[in-house]
Amino acid sequence: MAQLWGGRFTKETDELVYRFNASILFDKKLFEQDIEGSIAHVVMLEKQGIITCEEKDAIVKGLTGIRFDVEQGNLAITEEYEDIHSFVEAKLIERIGDAGKKMHTGRSRNDQVALDMKLYVRGEVLKVSDCLVNLLETVLTIMENNLTTYMPGFTHLQKAQPTTLAHHMGAYFEMFKRDFLRLSDIYKRMNYCPLGAGAFAGTTYPLDRAYTASLMGFEGPTLNSMDSVADRDYIIEFLSALSTIMMHLSRFSEEVIIWNSNEYRFIEIDDGFSTGSSIMPQKKNPDIAELVRGKTGRVYGALVSILTTMKGLPLAYNKDMQEDKEVTFDAIETVKNCLALFDGMLSTMKFNSQVMEKSAMNGFTNATDAADYLVGRGVPFRDAHGIIGRLVLYCMEKNTCIEALSLQELKEISPVFDADLYEAVSLKTCVEKRLTIGGPGQEAMKQTIRINRDFLDYYKTKER
Ligand code: ARG
Repeated sequence: MAQLWGGRFTKETDELVYRFNASILFDKKLFEQDIEGSIAHVVMLEKQGIITCEEKDAIVKGLTGIRFDVEQGNLAITEEYEDIHSFVEAKLIERIGDAGKKMHTGRSRNDQVALDMKLYVRGEVLKVSDCLVNLLETVLTIMENNLTTYMPGFTHLQKAQPTTLAHHMGAYFEMFKRDFLRLSDIYKRMNYCPLGAGAFAGTTYPLDRAYTASLMGFEGPTLNSMDSVADRDYIIEFLSALSTIMMHLSRFSEEVIIWNSNEYRFIEIDDGFSTGSSIMPQKKNPDIAELVRGKTGRVYGALVSILTTMKGLPLAYNKDMQEDKEVTFDAIETVKNCLALFDGMLSTMKFNSQVMEKSAMNGFTNATDAADYLVGRGVPFRDAHGIIGRLVLYCMEKNTCIEALSLQELKEISPVFDADLYEAVSLKTCVEKRLTIGGPGQEAMKQTIRINRDFLDYYKTKER
């Protein structure tokens, strides 16, 4: 057992207690952030005259040496230390002696861990954003290539009106774009540095918190030292954003699974992204989509876990908060994996445009347009709705579709019908006449794509 405290204790910690309390097994993930934070801290201590220049140099050299050795695999982060902070400090003292004992001046593990976690989450916000940008690029490319790939659109999973693949994909583009922008907002809100809050009441040392914050690229220091060590809102916000990403991916997965089914055959998932069955030789299963859908619960779980952990905590730091780490780490890895795999599956997927178009032709997806045709000839919409309802029933009894009826049959149902009805209810007209912005008509879609292309290019070239 190696711990940073013990002076006021008369007994060794019970072995089980020690292990229950220790966090090294998972907070070793914060190793780099811990070193980065400590370097910034001691550089500030020296600037403020709290430690000497020689001491600062020795500490920085010691810390960079430890980082190098761990990265090279020459120094292992082992379980005999209570947490990553104890490990780094113990190694430093081992290497540079007494100067190392000054590193923790004006600091507590409470503000230290708050900083480490914030640095980690801040970095991951950017990594998840990058994964989203890749997926957005794939979705937009599919949109650009499928402006006239007609397909049925659904409500209640019943064929409703015809649309295009570009339009359907565009819905997901908007979802993932909002996810991306949500992450940018979170980044801005969280980018304040808690270091210098001490245990919770600040310190009596003349720290320059704004300077430490600037060394690590923060907007500035946090403004209440109690809140600084007690705040995990940014983790909750991030997990909430991750949950929303998973919700979107899961809906998309559900559609991929449906479209890939034998009944639909709208798409063919690439062999590289499908799996087979151990018993049924003919099977090719959409396991990736199913797993992405399945892992959604796990990410929601992380969000609910931290919300629950935090709900009853008095100010300021409580050890309960150590529970913020494992679930957060797991959720982040899960989302990054799911985004990358989904992107791979989507970019290699084949769209069966003929099957989609044929599917859009039946199921009376042009019924709304047939009603609008009558409205255009002075029939009130409610009456037109009734007439087309009867027309659909007539077609169903005869096992046919509106555009296959003769003009005479049409006129028997309503004398208002004329020869131009056929053109008005053709698949192409139904889609291409929907031209208000946000709709599937080609000219509207081109405008939408242009706006989204600009959005994506801006973020792809923006340096962060
Ligand atoms: N392992 C702790 C955590 O993750 C670090 C902070 C410990 N602070 C304390 N007062 N015991 O929250």
